[in-house]
Amino acid sequence: MLANKKILIGVTGSIAAYKIILLTRLLVKEGAEVKIILTKAATDFVSPLVLSTLSKNVVLQELSSNSEWANHVQLGRWADVFLIAPLSCNTLAKLANGICDNLLMATYLSATCPIVLAPAMDEDMWKHPSTKKNLEVVKTYGNSIINVGDGELASGLFGEGRMAEPEEIVAYLKENYFRTTELSGKKVLITAGPTYEAIDPVRFISNHSSGKMGFALTEELFSRGASVTLVTGPTKEKLSFPSIKRINVVSANDMYNACLSEASASDILVMSAAVADYTPVTVEFNKIKKKENDWSIELTKTKDILFSIGQQKRENQFLVGFALETNNERENALQKLRNKNADCIVLNSLNDKDAGFGYDTNKVTLLHKSGETHEFSLKTKKEVAKDIVSFIISKING
Ligand code: CTP
Repeated sequence: MLANKKILIGVTGSIAAYKIILLTRLLVKEGAEVKIILTKAATDFVSPLVLSTLSKNVVLQELSSNSEWANHVQLGRWADVFLIAPLSCNTLAKLANGICDNLLMATYLSATCPIVLAPAMDEDMWKHPSTKKNLEVVKTYGNSIINVGDGELASGLFGEGRMAEPEEIVAYLKENYFRTTELSGKKVLITAGPTYEAIDPVRFISNHSSGKMGFALTEELFSRGASVTLVTGPTKEKLSFPSIKRINVVSANDMYNACLSEASASDILVMSAAVADYTPVTVEFNKIKKKENDWSIELTKTKDILFSIGQQKRENQFLVGFALETNNERENALQKLRNKNADCIVLNSLNDKDAGFGYDTNKVTLLHKSGETHEFSLKTKKEVAKDIVSFIISKING
């Protein structure tokens, strides 16, 4: 998503400047081209050598040095986004008033790209009426602000004013400037993770699903422009994009109810959750005590979400199911494709090394209702998500 994107970072004098080291690393790792401007005050907090090494570009500090002129106009036109982070109180005041006394300010005043500000201040400075006023002023100039967080501040006090974390900044830039448009206007409903079927207040029946594949797919669908609702069972996985609607559920029945109320409004439906096929007939209110002899639990079938959605599917909806198989993989997956009226099934085999539950890698075969099949090699779940989403896009456009 960030490959070959040009990001200019202006760093000002704040202790949060140390976070720019990690931010630069994250951006470069994702393929972005990063150039950095430091104000004089910023050099007290972070070394130009560290940042030039990580960004693989000379760090710019002065409008001119050794009779060479840093072309601020060209810099502001080169960038896809100009991020000023951390934004100190002092530079904020300069932005609000158009004071042009260093390279960062000259670049800001001549930039034609979107400008994003990530302030960092002590709570009292952050809450000062002049700061509030300056923030309102810079917003009217069209600049975007990444909200500060709560927590321990450089002063040792706790409160508001911490600069957003590098991962949050990367997610903000991606979400607001670098999503593609292949799926814009499309609504997606996706399920992920396992379900927990309660036996009593202490125990439940579940499976080994980590939710990683479903979460990678959710973020990829969103990155390609779709508006996405994720219905997920219990998982440790987190989403980076706040605009994805996340509905947390526990049981297969909760997941069924959440999905069925969202399904008719969705254009693409991806059922990647490992939903329990059976649930206890009764859930004991109190913890079940150990018995003298063996004990069995009566189970009843859960409602099949993929099947139910397949029954009501409209012509213009695209339904994707998953099949995790251990034997007769293709036959079983094709049977699911037909029985559940899906458009496509993503087949995972538990026999493939390093693929499946808990791994960061996966190996899938896509089976389309037309008979078309695509077998992919072992890849990271993020790369697998890209392949699956590209396949969906090719089918809905084709
Ligand atoms: N699925 C579902 N609701 C259920 C069970 C499964 O939506 N109650 C969906 C899964 O999300 C997946 C697909 O159905 O997309 C295949 O799930 P799986 O459990 O493997 O298939 P089953 O039809 O239950 O067959 P079996 O367990 O016998 O392999």
